[in-house]
Amino acid sequence: MGVRIVGTGSFIPEKVLTNFDLQNMVDTSDEWIRVRTGIVERHIAPPEMSSGDMAICAARRALEMAGLQGSDISAVIVATTTPDYTFPNTASLVQNGIGAENAFGFDLSAACSGMIYSLELAYSLLLQKKYRYILLCGAEKLSAITNWSDRNTCVLFGDGAGALILGRCDDDGSGQLASDLHINGSYEDILKLPAGGSRNPATHETVDGKLHTIHMQGKETFKLAVNAMAGACKAVLAAAGVDVSELKLVIPHQANKRIIEAVANRIDVREDQLFINVDKYGNTSAASVSICLDEAFRSGRVQRGDMVLLVAFGAGLTWGAQLIRV
Ligand code: COA
Repeated sequence: MGVRIVGTGSFIPEKVLTNFDLQNMVDTSDEWIRVRTGIVERHIAPPEMSSGDMAICAARRALEMAGLQGSDISAVIVATTTPDYTFPNTASLVQNGIGAENAFGFDLSAACSGMIYSLELAYSLLLQKKYRYILLCGAEKLSAITNWSDRNTCVLFGDGAGALILGRCDDDGSGQLASDLHINGSYEDILKLPAGGSRNPATHETVDGKLHTIHMQGKETFKLAVNAMAGACKAVLAAAGVDVSELKLVIPHQANKRIIEAVANRIDVREDQLFINVDKYGNTSAASVSICLDEAFRSGRVQRGDMVLLVAFGAGLTWGAQLIRV
């Protein structure tokens, strides 16, 4: 028995914010952003649209591809750092939005590594045979927590959602070949949203101090990300006894093209094996890996039976890799 990705979907809001638009908002330039990050534009959700709304749209597309109804789904897991509310969880909003009347569900908080962590759960839950199909969503409205006057961060992020449906299948060869997951809280301060939780509840001071927006030490994050992602990739390849040349595709979390290329260099990935769309969407945190997988499936860059390496790094720190046969 194996586990297979039976459907994928994504949703990208219509409104485009280009580097040139940002030039009019902060002291930056299209050239600086392109050279330092590889980002050309990102999409921004309208005020009335939440992460949950985007996840529902992505999930409906994944259901359609899989030929399933909401009622076929056994569990809904939503990876997000921008949930609609502290509670109820976003998974319950998605459950209701797609009519997943037979599901349980929860949100998963692991920042940009959310989809890599979610896949770990989905593969192991499905092998227990108790559940038939599991819906994973990665959804972010990062524009809602961006400090639009901080040029160090506001050029990096975008909004969007992706969805994957995994289900059991007869093919033993399909599924998770290896995984390598980590968490390390000693770097808590390099990437965080300082206020709004129980540590620093919302006050006039936290709002005035812009403590409800992303705070990041970029250079430090960059170095840690490259080392951590390259290490996780090497670990899963070694564990599965797979040579990197055998992979159809490597899908790294899309934070910065320079991070992606540095990781690719360290593990000797060919250019045609590397999936990059950070130029179009910026960093969509927990959504990025599933948006990439959806684009890869729909464009034919990945087909049933291919081996794919997924890798991500995010606040926490959290990081990890999944080597899967789709
Ligand atoms: N436009 C113009 N100049 C900018 C700028 C912008 N948008 N943002 C920063 N700068 C300036 C800095 O103020 C600094 O100026 P200074 O030297 O006068 O102080 C200079 O550019 C260089 O900044 P530095 O931080 O050294 O740039 P960098 O090459 O490290 O690139 C990042 C900055 C943020 C793009 C890069 O560090 C990065 O991508 N880090 C990881 C971010 C990330 O992935 N986060 C999420 C992880 S999941």
